[in-house]
Amino acid sequence: MEDLKLLIDKLDRHKHLDKSEWVCLLTGHDDEVRSYAAEKARSISTSKFGRKIFIRGIVEFSNYCKNDCLYCGIRRSNLNAQRYRLTDEEILSCCDEGYETGYRTFVLQSGEDRHYTTEHLADIVRQIKKAHPDCAVTLSLGELEYDDYKLLREAGADRYLLRHETADKEHYGKLHPAEMSFEHRMKCLEQLKELGFQTGAGLMVGSPFQTPECIAEDMLFMERFKPHMIGIGPFLPHKDTPFRDEPKGSYELTLFLLSLSRIMLPNVLLPATTALGTIRSDGREQGVLAGANVIMPNLSPTAVRKKYMLYDNKICTEDSTSECRFCLQSRMKSIGYEVEISRGDYSE
Ligand code: 5AD
Ligand code: FES
Repeated sequence: MEDLKLLIDKLDRHKHLDKSEWVCLLTGHDDEVRSYAAEKARSISTSKFGRKIFIRGIVEFSNYCKNDCLYCGIRRSNLNAQRYRLTDEEILSCCDEGYETGYRTFVLQSGEDRHYTTEHLADIVRQIKKAHPDCAVTLSLGELEYDDYKLLREAGADRYLLRHETADKEHYGKLHPAEMSFEHRMKCLEQLKELGFQTGAGLMVGSPFQTPECIAEDMLFMERFKPHMIGIGPFLPHKDTPFRDEPKGSYELTLFLLSLSRIMLPNVLLPATTALGTIRSDGREQGVLAGANVIMPNLSPTAVRKKYMLYDNKICTEDSTSECRFCLQSRMKSIGYEVEISRGDYSE
């Protein structure tokens, strides 16, 4: 395994590996190699951020979606999903409650719900920015057109999360219906960056049909694109989707990819995701110890949390904003970290 440690050293030095080297690393790793990567990643993140974890409050404001991604529990074909939308007032009051609890970034996330026009969404952004001028607003609304993104940026949105899901076009086609396009998703990411959003990409680990070559392409794509944020979590099946019987993604590989992402892109904002906390009860803590520096708990009203089920058994659906806030504080304390109250913008 010495040769794999050398590859990790090489990644650390050159911030690049060839595709065949990636495949080697992604197929040959064991406990020792993963610990080696985690230690390196953790020392990079603590030297940059200290033992401080940024928190982002997510408001899941609508679970209507026009898309039909095969993995996702809120896909339009899932007739068992109970659909809901929050009003502007409800969204604002989630943010107000979040502010009181110490959040300085609000993430507005929804399915691709055309009920909200772009002008309406821009108005919500403006209202939040007006109420909380010291806070960052992150959007996670899926694929839109350039003019939409522009309007939202002009309304004051600071960041945008759009996981690329997979950088392999053929693999993309197996996870999404034919009406969705790999090229369009990639184009969206380019446009978001061009408009000055701090931009997040990312992927699911162990999604059906994913191979080590696919993940190698993901890493090469992220090396090129240099996202400001990277969302990485395990694939988890949802009972009302075509992937209901597919196996979960690997917990160990997820942690390894967090470490490798941190080593390749030292400044990246890297969340220990909810999916990671779902696959393992201490997954988010272990994610932090593997190089993550962000946690994104939920600010949605408890009444709707169970309805935003992207995958089965999602955590925190019975907890309130303050319960999650308190829970996180003690989880971070248990591993010697603390929650940081500031916007936590990307910086080089
Ligand atoms: N398992 C894990 N992650 C999922 N996502 C959607 N469905 C699942 C699932 N079944 C992720 C996607 C999406 C993000 C909001 O949630 O990567 O971009
Ligand atoms: Fe939500 Fe622990 S973070 S209950």
